[in-house]
Amino acid sequence: MKKIAFIGTGNMGGALIKATCKAVDPKEVLITNRTLAKAQELSDELGCCVAQNNLEAVKNASYVVLCVKPQVINGVLEEIAPVVREEAKKRELVLATIVVGKKIADYTEITGLKELPVIRTMPNMPAAIGQGMTIAARNEFVKDTQMQEYFSLMKESGLMEEVAEDKMNAAGNLSGCAPAWAFMFIEALADGAVQTGVPRKSAVKYAAQTVLGAAQMVLETGKHPGELKDAVCSPGGTTIVGVRALEDRGFRGATMSAVTAAYEKTIGIK
Ligand SMILES: NC(=O)c1ccc[n+]([C@@H]2O[C@H](COP(=O)([O-])OP(=O)(O)OC[C@H]3O[C@@H](n4cnc5c(N)ncnc54)[C@H](OP(=O)(O)O)[C@@H]3O)[C@@H](O)[C@H]2O)c1
Repeated sequence: MKKIAFIGTGNMGGALIKATCKAVDPKEVLITNRTLAKAQELSDELGCCVAQNNLEAVKNASYVVLCVKPQVINGVLEEIAPVVREEAKKRELVLATIVVGKKIADYTEITGLKELPVIRTMPNMPAAIGQGMTIAARNEFVKDTQMQEYFSLMKESGLMEEVAEDKMNAAGNLSGCAPAWAFMFIEALADGAVQTGVPRKSAVKYAAQTVLGAAQMVLETGKHPGELKDAVCSPGGTTIVGVRALEDRGFRGATMSAVTAAYEKTIGIK
């Protein structure tokens, strides 16, 4: 029996598989994918094992992580349901998922197993470099020890935090989507610097390190971001002129709208 299996080795699944292979012996990690060659390629790189299909993955692991798109999750669940029921009768089996928007109750309903332990998570892309922010919720059938073990399997992906499931869409929406908006911000900062004469490569580097440093300061000091912003803005100085330019163009309102628009889309996913 392997420790953990992943169904789906795409962008996000692949990132989590890489992180898990750093946290445990890759031989404890089983992976499968619709296009099996993709799973094989990842296995050649990481030394983890390949299951020939989704049923084999479920039969041979204690934790099974579903990493497929929302459009195909119901089909995958219907396919694995009989094996999930059979295996859960014989041993401890935890189903985990990274699929956006889908509720824990959907997993227990489609598998036909009301008491199935389910961990619902929303990781994000920086998990690929061990700097992710994963939000997780569980149902009452997941024991504390199982949740701890799952967090430990994922520890190389970055920070993990548990929330009640009714906060999952709101918290996961922020962590899941915001990397794209942060990339846009970095790109825009670099574009501005290019316009003022900084070579593109240097501009991207300066912008990215500046955003990274600012984010690290928020986390390490625990100070309110507004207080840190005030500390950079000298009276009559250059930074406050930039703050005014951003405020004139609705920077904070636009950013808040990005969060709420993505949230509305998330809660609309069935
Ligand atoms: N991307 C993100 O930043 C992010 C963040 C948080 C959560 N998520 C969630 O992560 C999930 C996957 O997203 P992604 O960006 O990784 O998508 P992706 O790159 O398209 O990966 C999906 C993978 O699922 C495989 N697959 C499809 N149908 C399958 C089946 N029936 N059995 C086994 N494998 C199957 C695909 O195989 P093929 O190789 O054959 O296409 C593909 O490798 C989504 O539900 C999304 O909500 C993504």
